[in-house]
Amino acid sequence: MSDGSSFYITTPIFYVNDVPHIGHAYTEVASDVLARWHRQAGDDTWFLTGTDEHGQKILRTATANGVSPKEWADRLVATAWQPLLATIDISNDDFIRTTDERHEKNVQLFLQRLFDAGYIYTGDYEGFYCVGCEEYKQPTDLVDGTGQYEGVQVCAIHSKPVELLQERNYFFRMSDFTDRLLDLYESNPEFIQPESVRNEIVAFVRRGLHDLSISRQSFDWGIKVPWDDTHVVYVWFDALLNYITAAGYGSDDARFEELWPATHIVGKDIARFHAVIWPAMLMAAGLAVPKQVFGHGWLLVGGEKMSKSKLTGIAPNQITDTFGSDAFRYYFMSAITFGQDGSFSWEDLSARYQSELANGFGNLASRVIAMVIKYVDGRVPDAGTLTDAEEGLRALERSVVAEADAAIERLAIQDALTSIWQLVDQLNGYITVQEPWKLSKNPEDRARLETVLATVVHGVGTLAVLLSPVIPEATTKLWQALGGVGDVADVPIRQADDWQGVGRVETLAPLFPRVETIEGAA
Ligand code: ME8
Ligand code: MG
Repeated sequence: MSDGSSFYITTPIFYVNDVPHIGHAYTEVASDVLARWHRQAGDDTWFLTGTDEHGQKILRTATANGVSPKEWADRLVATAWQPLLATIDISNDDFIRTTDERHEKNVQLFLQRLFDAGYIYTGDYEGFYCVGCEEYKQPTDLVDGTGQYEGVQVCAIHSKPVELLQERNYFFRMSDFTDRLLDLYESNPEFIQPESVRNEIVAFVRRGLHDLSISRQSFDWGIKVPWDDTHVVYVWFDALLNYITAAGYGSDDARFEELWPATHIVGKDIARFHAVIWPAMLMAAGLAVPKQVFGHGWLLVGGEKMSKSKLTGIAPNQITDTFGSDAFRYYFMSAITFGQDGSFSWEDLSARYQSELANGFGNLASRVIAMVIKYVDGRVPDAGTLTDAEEGLRALERSVVAEADAAIERLAIQDALTSIWQLVDQLNGYITVQEPWKLSKNPEDRARLETVLATVVHGVGTLAVLLSPVIPEATTKLWQALGGVGDVADVPIRQADDWQGVGRVETLAPLFPRVETIEGAA
C-alpha cells in the first residue's frame, strides 16, 4: 500500500449486556495498532469501534436489572465501554452505537432496498436459537451438555441449552449467494484470513447456504422493519450494518464512497457472520464487499475461551493498574501470534514485562539518554567516521523499517515486533561492545565517543518512531527526552530511520519501572 491510500479498519461492535474483559480489549488493541501504524504512515485512516445494543440478550439483562434496555445500554456504554478505550489508549475516530439515529434510520433504508429488490420474503422459522450467540442454530451446531445440563443439547460456545423458536419471520435469500461467495473466496484468497478461518468458512459455504431469518416478532427491542412494525430486525442483520451506517451510507454518499470497503478485525467466533452473511447482504444491495475479514484467535484461561458467561473474564484495568497500558498493549501483541489462540498468564506477562520492556527497551533508552548527559553534556553529537559496526546498524534500521511495514501490511503484528526487537537487541549489543564509558575517559577517543553516541541516539529515536503505534505513552516520553521535534506519532513511520537527532536530550525517568507485586496473580 502506498502512502496516502485509504485504510478503514473496524472492530466488532460489542454487546453491552456486560462489561468488557481482556478479550474485547485484545481486539481493540490489535485494531488500534494497525490504525495507528497506517495513520503514522500517512494513509488516510479511519478507525471505527462501538457497541451492539439491541436483541434479546441485552433486553433480558436489562429486565433482570430492573431498567429499560436503553437505560441499561446508556449506563454500560458510559461506565464501561467508553472508559475501556481510555484505559488501553485506543485512538478510534468514531464510536457507533446501534441505538444512534444515524444507524437505525439507515438500517431501515438498507432493508427497504433489499425488500424492493426482491431479496426478502415471508416465511416460517422453526428451529433453535442461542440467545448468548444471538444466532439461529442447526442441530449440528449443538453438543451434549454436562453438569447441570447433562442429557440435553447445548450451544457449543455457551454450554447452555438453546431455545426452540417457532415464528413467522422475514427471510433474506442468502442461499442465492452461495456461488458468488465461493467465487469471492477463490478469486480473492486474502478476503478471509488467517488460513484456518478461511478453510472453515469455505467448507461451511460449500455445504450450501440456507436463507436467513432477519426479523423477530416475539419482542420489540430492536429496529422496526420499515414495512411491518410488528417485527424488529434480527440483531446481527442490524449490527453488521454499523460498518456502513457509520461510514456515511444513506447519509453522506461521498464520504461512504471514500471510506468503503473496510478491513474487519473480529474474533474467529464471529468470522462466519462477517465473511458469509455480511458480504451476501452487501452483494444483494449492490455494494462492494469488505476488503478483508481477519478472524483472530481466542485468549484462553485455563485452556478455555475467556468469557464473562463462564466467569473467566479478567478486567483490562486489573492489568493496566499495575503494568500500565503500554505493557498491556505490547504484551498481547508480542506474546500471541495474531490469528492464533493464546493463553494468558500473569507469570508470562510479568516475565516479558521485565525482560523485554524494562530490561530490553526501557533500559536501553535510559542508558542512551544518561550517557549523552554524562559524557557529552546532554548535547546530541554528530557522527564522525563510521565503521562497519555503525554502517551495520544503519542497514539494520532500514531493513527493520521495511520488514515491520510489510508485516503490518499482512496484519502480522507479532512479526513486526520481532523485527523491531532485532534493533533493540543489536543496539544493546553495540553498547556492550563499544564501551562508551571507556571511550569517555580518554580525550583522544572523543570523536569515536561522539560517533557511538550519535549512533545509539539515532537507533533509539528510530525505535521510538517504530514503536509509537504499540506503546504510545513510553515512546512519547522518550521522543521528548531525545529532543525529537513535534509529536512522535506524526513522524512518518515508513521513513522512521530518516529522523535526525539534534539539540539536547533531557533526563528520562524509567519507562517501565519495576513492578513489585503481581496484581490478581494470587
Ligand atoms: O459478538 N479472546 O459481540 P461480543 C479474544 N455484538 N477475543 C475475544 C474473546 C476472547 N476470549 N472474547 C471476546 C458480538 N472477544 C457481536 C458482534 S459485530 C457486527 C457484532 C472479542 O460482545 C472478539 O473480538 O460477544 C469477539 O469476536 C468479540 O469480542 C465478541 O464480542
Ligand atoms: Mg460473544
